[in-house]
Amino acid sequence: MSRCIAIINGGGDCPGLNGVIRGVVRSAILQHGWRVLGIEDGFDGLIDEPHFRELDLDAVQGILPRGGTILGTSNRGNPFSYPVREADGTVVVQDISQQVVTNFKGLGADALVVVGGDGTLAIARRLNDLGVPMVGVPKTIDNDLQGTDLTFGYNTAVGIVTEALDRLVTTAESHHRVMVVEVMGRDAGWIALEAGLAGSAGGILLPEIPFDIELVCQHIHQRREAGSRFNIVVVSEGAYPKNGDKIVQATAEETHGLVRLGGIGHYVAQQIADREGLETRVVVLGHVQRGGTPSPFDRILASRFGVQAVEMLAQGQYGQMVALRGREMVAVPIDEAVAEQNLIDPAGNLAWTAEQLGIMLGR
Ligand code: F6P
Repeated sequence: MSRCIAIINGGGDCPGLNGVIRGVVRSAILQHGWRVLGIEDGFDGLIDEPHFRELDLDAVQGILPRGGTILGTSNRGNPFSYPVREADGTVVVQDISQQVVTNFKGLGADALVVVGGDGTLAIARRLNDLGVPMVGVPKTIDNDLQGTDLTFGYNTAVGIVTEALDRLVTTAESHHRVMVVEVMGRDAGWIALEAGLAGSAGGILLPEIPFDIELVCQHIHQRREAGSRFNIVVVSEGAYPKNGDKIVQATAEETHGLVRLGGIGHYVAQQIADREGLETRVVVLGHVQRGGTPSPFDRILASRFGVQAVEMLAQGQYGQMVALRGREMVAVPIDEAVAEQNLIDPAGNLAWTAEQLGIMLGR
């Protein structure tokens, strides 16, 4: 049966998104003879006047190495709580999900591939119940989605941070400084821990292990006493001190989306400078971690996810998310995948390995 399917991505961009789009388009066309529509700018593309375009083989040619997403994205357009500006300028939050369902049906597509993190996939799951048959693809550099061993984009982000750490070591060493490197990850410390391990950081502070600033300073002090005159401390943006709170740049109400974290790197650096009298510098890697070309690993994972999503549509496995388990592609219920976050186990092997290597985790 010839079908028309659509693909949409939501949330922040992520290296590998174009690989998923290409995988969906190529397998849908080459293996099934289906048409594929690309919805632009996340769920914003299904609000008011729908914006979308046909994706044929030419449209996805050469996009595998390209970062970002050819479709554009948005991390503010939750149709179940959508900020609408009234005539008097006030912003009210409305449920406009029916408009999204109607607009989707108006496209003439019979199913949707949704590529996103937990927020986007939770929205998609609810749309599935409202009559938009969909399958999900897990996307985020944070690697915080349950149900899949890995999300695409994460490997690239770890590579970018590791390269930055390698570069920072040489300048920290030359100036005998403490470099505090703040990295992304929201509530999950995967990027900090794995890149910190790969980049031989002296300390790594994670959202999963509230840190004791006294121990952080003690560790730096001891390293200096032992003859090491520089130090690299990787701080996840969601890390926070014992008896303290996460540092927030903007609340969920202010962003009409997710809390924006940031600033903990400066706090840690200031504490080290004040308590130890050392010269510190802070590097906030920010969106560099999401930019640029995906790693070969992520290109392959993204391609596998895209192809598998089409296979799941062919088999009518709606409401499910494609996932990597070991070396295999499997389908997992989206409800399961978004029920809780995939976080670092403070008592698990990765944290243990770091500490066995002498890396300070602030506890
Ligand atoms: O979830 C991915 C992520 O990059 C987080 O690591 C980070 O906190 C957030 O998105 C940044 O979002 P924005 O692009 O809205 O600043």
